[in-house]
Amino acid sequence: MLSVTEKAIPRLTAQQLNDYNRDGFLIIKDFISETTCNFLIARTKQLIADFDAEHYKTIFSSADQAHASSDYFLNSGDKIHFFFEPNAFDSNGNLVKDKVFTINKIGHALHELDPVFKTFSTDQKFSALAQDLGISDPILLQSMIICKQPFIGGEVYAHQDSTYLFTEPQSLVGLWLALEDASIENGCLWAIPGGHRNGLKARFIRSKNQTKHVVYDESEWELPQMQALTVAKGSLIILHGLLPHMSKANLAPYSRYAYTLHISSAHSAYPSDNWLQRETPFMRLD
Ligand code: FE2
Repeated sequence: MLSVTEKAIPRLTAQQLNDYNRDGFLIIKDFISETTCNFLIARTKQLIADFDAEHYKTIFSSADQAHASSDYFLNSGDKIHFFFEPNAFDSNGNLVKDKVFTINKIGHALHELDPVFKTFSTDQKFSALAQDLGISDPILLQSMIICKQPFIGGEVYAHQDSTYLFTEPQSLVGLWLALEDASIENGCLWAIPGGHRNGLKARFIRSKNQTKHVVYDESEWELPQMQALTVAKGSLIILHGLLPHMSKANLAPYSRYAYTLHISSAHSAYPSDNWLQRETPFMRLD
């Protein structure tokens, strides 16, 4: 059964809000049930099974960003598009293993276009959370399934989500839902506690059909300060848009599925040079 409402809608306590404001992230255990996690994973595998992998061989890599100027990527803001791991193909362009084990991520409008993920993403738990976080009139900017496949799930380099989804004033929040246990072995998130208070380092913008990084701060990330955010299946990690975070490669023989939602306030400006653009307005989270 697909529901996140099987329990009472949790509200953030003053202590949790203090922790979030101090650290830039907050972990909530058991935010969704194991049954819901399994249902969303099964739905994801069905989406991948139905995907025509032969015609859309777009790789997603946070290392070389080669995907970033492809139309398939640039047009994915209001679609459900599939992106492969960098090591998904051999030198002849053939998948090295079954496609279900080679998809890096799926994005960026599952919350709107897929009935299962739409039902899940518009649950009252999320609007209650947005309200508690002080996001007035929240809108859903994007959604992603991140598969972090066994053995080949690639590293995601340190970044701030506001680099990719800039809002003015900053109101971006990422909701990272662990559909499976996320450990050091299978590539959990890492973050710098309090790092959200040091400003935005860069923006990732689009100009016509090209993308580029505009760097404001050339300093290196303080990687030794990264703390592993290991969480159990069903946990939610709330991420401030300015929080530096990353994940390492998954070298374990098991995956690390996560579903992410990014929300912001309808009262923040969303610039027309953000990489993610849509034909239609962002969905409201009421
Ligand atoms: Fe991120």
